[in-house]
Amino acid sequence: MNKEFSAIRIKGMGTSIFSTMSRLAFENHAVNLGQGFPDFDGPLWLMEEAFNAMKEGKNQYAPTQGILSLRKAISEMQKKYYGLDWNPETEITITAGATEALYSTFQALINEGDEVIMFEPFYDSYQADVILAGGIPKYVTLKKPDFHFDFDELEHTITDKTKIIVINTPHNPTGKVYTIEELKLIAQLAVKHDLLVISDEVYEFLTFDNSKHIPIASLPGMKDRTVTISSAGKTFSMTGWKIGWAISCSKLTDAIRKVHQWTTFAVNTPGQHAIAHAFSRLDEYLPVFQKEYLERRDLLLKELKTTSFNAHIPKGSYFMMVDIPELNTMSGVTPDIDYDEEIAIELVKNYKIATIPPSVFYGKSDEGRTMLRLCFAKSNETLIAGAENLRKYKI
Ligand SMILES: Cc1ncc(COP(=O)(O)O)c(C=O)c1O
Repeated sequence: MNKEFSAIRIKGMGTSIFSTMSRLAFENHAVNLGQGFPDFDGPLWLMEEAFNAMKEGKNQYAPTQGILSLRKAISEMQKKYYGLDWNPETEITITAGATEALYSTFQALINEGDEVIMFEPFYDSYQADVILAGGIPKYVTLKKPDFHFDFDELEHTITDKTKIIVINTPHNPTGKVYTIEELKLIAQLAVKHDLLVISDEVYEFLTFDNSKHIPIASLPGMKDRTVTISSAGKTFSMTGWKIGWAISCSKLTDAIRKVHQWTTFAVNTPGQHAIAHAFSRLDEYLPVFQKEYLERRDLLLKELKTTSFNAHIPKGSYFMMVDIPELNTMSGVTPDIDYDEEIAIELVKNYKIATIPPSVFYGKSDEGRTMLRLCFAKSNETLIAGAENLRKYKI
């Protein structure tokens, strides 16, 4: 074939860093604190619910918008935990994970040339989705050490082409949980400039210490201009089930459903039934789930204290950022491009520990080059073995 068949809009897209690091982890028999999913299963009763649904013959296509019992369960959860009223018939759509909810939402809302503001480091599918939809990503940096953002930087990034601000709280990869004050500032600008907000809340039930997850849709003036996206994968430790949802006013939901019907059409039926059941057990399930994740976070933090990697304590999600040790002695120096990737490759090859180099999650700032991302959704043995290998890394 001499002709160039691939579309121009996918030109800049490479293999995701997750695939690269997972391959290197496998090839080098490394402990994997890079990949962002649990190395253990979700509850057995949940698997049994899925199997029961299969045995009861719930095996054919689900309605395109998702089964009603799951949409009702999500609506009840939003009411109970956040005081938000959503109509399950017209305002909630079940998607193939949060990934598809994000894709369908961006496709449904972006016109060629629309600008979309995202905070960096960003979850990498936002940037790809915006580009695939013909939009232009714009970045506002969450700055070390506490990953705060500058209100003026955000306001100055807004132009007459801006349509959407994307937020992710609790945040992958930093573990930041947006405070009410920060959410109010974003909401204030969204209302003032008539913008939409896409709020990715897949780690909504993973907050630590005194942090509280607040959906931006619950702030005054925000309900009708927010698309809230979440997923069962993280909450029930079943990331491979890929059951997510998008919640928004009926007008935006209509638009999202138009893309969803031609993207996946419907999401796996027995899994939806099982997750609908899981929501009925949320109150008894969450305290144990949260306690276990807090223990995992604290174990990794404790272990890291005896390494040369300084951690930024996460308030939510199951990720944390650590500083690359060399840079502590080189203050004020900007590391070379791909520096974090070089260190991550050295660690996986020579020290048998896989991490994620985060500079790919930045579009503007160099700060990503100074850190590595670790995932603590791992068994105690994996966390201890990972820290043991990091300990061997001396500068
Ligand atoms: C912030 C964030 N959003 C979305 C997703 C994708 O979620 P899902 O697996 O439900 O598609 C992830 C997965 O890691 C994530 O970390």
